[in-house]
Amino acid sequence: LRDSFITRSAKSVKSYTRQFQPQASTFKVAILGAAGGIGQPLALLVKMSPLISDLHLYDIANVKGVAADLSHCNTPSKVFDFTGVSELPNALQGVDLVVIPAGVPRKPGMTRDDLFNINANIVKTLVEAVADNCPNAFIHIISNPVNSTVPIAAEILKQKGVYDPKKLFGVTTLDVVRANTFVAKKKNLKLIDVDVPVIGGHAGITILPILSKTRPAVTFSDEETVELTKRIQNAGTEVVEAKAGAGSATLSMAYAAARFVESSLRALDGDSDVYECSFVQSQLTDLPFFASRIKLGVKGVEAIISADLQGLTGYEEKALEDLKVELKASIEKGVSFAQKKA
Ligand code: NAD
Ligand code: LMR
Repeated sequence: LRDSFITRSAKSVKSYTRQFQPQASTFKVAILGAAGGIGQPLALLVKMSPLISDLHLYDIANVKGVAADLSHCNTPSKVFDFTGVSELPNALQGVDLVVIPAGVPRKPGMTRDDLFNINANIVKTLVEAVADNCPNAFIHIISNPVNSTVPIAAEILKQKGVYDPKKLFGVTTLDVVRANTFVAKKKNLKLIDVDVPVIGGHAGITILPILSKTRPAVTFSDEETVELTKRIQNAGTEVVEAKAGAGSATLSMAYAAARFVESSLRALDGDSDVYECSFVQSQLTDLPFFASRIKLGVKGVEAIISADLQGLTGYEEKALEDLKVELKASIEKGVSFAQKKA
């Protein structure tokens, strides 16, 4: 168990020891889209967290069985199921953290932006309900295209008068998880030690691993840099093609989302040493939203870390300039969708 859970070993030890501290604070977490390919394994992973007292599972269908099944696990959190829009307000009552993996996934040949027309409306409806029922909750957006759904969520929260930019997160943890895995394999490093910051956004070239800032320090040839960068950028497509029409990444995504939930809850619980990459409102570049390393605290984003953007290699510098064009357009598409609907 020592190294078993989501985050790195030292943090896992902390999770483990907490199980023997009944006085420690615990939180209510809601998953919207809980019966889906990501939702189910994510629910299972977070059901193992000692930081959660209540797990609210919401979907438009099939969630009753998932909740009944999960509720038999003898881990501390209680599981509650909510089906359909009429039960959505109750699903969100008193919740500290909402994870949104609701929406359609890609099929081979599609871009994430091809999901916009369906998923933009789903995210809009769900975030409206979050604004009405748990406006102070941390919100983790997984639904694609993240580069647009996060700006949509921000606009909806603004329209409702409850936008707190420190509490809205686009989940890009899977890009970091992939980068760590691929780099460790390529350089024959111990996986648990590797940490690669990934900046920008979450689609194609907007995903930019900053390999020059890999920890532990390691050098890459130009060929290795190009190969690893492209693999990390195309990793989602690699899974979509391997699944051949049956969806996109679900298991690795659930793992990554559970890591981000665990990190957020540790921060909410007062841990002052929690860092993750996420797509958030940001002033690091001239774009209004940008993924980078952030420090998480009780109020959400406590600091945006600029160090990973300093002293970039020529390759990274150019890739950063190139990605801004696409990322800007995706952000603007999300903003104008939400403003037109207002
Ligand atoms: P899925 O189709 O297996 O599951 C989606 C679930 O959402 C279904 O259970 C469905 O009933 C539910 N749903 C649909 N409309 C809903 C609504 N209005 N309210 C509540 N629930 C609703 O899809 P999946 O594989 O779980 O992927 C979900 C989303 O996550 C996709 O948009 C996918 O592109 C995205 N994704 C993002 C990342 C990332 O790194 N951010 C990684 C993988 C997948
Ligand atoms: C991923 O990176 O796996 C997700 O964004 C899903 C996808 O469509 O690739």
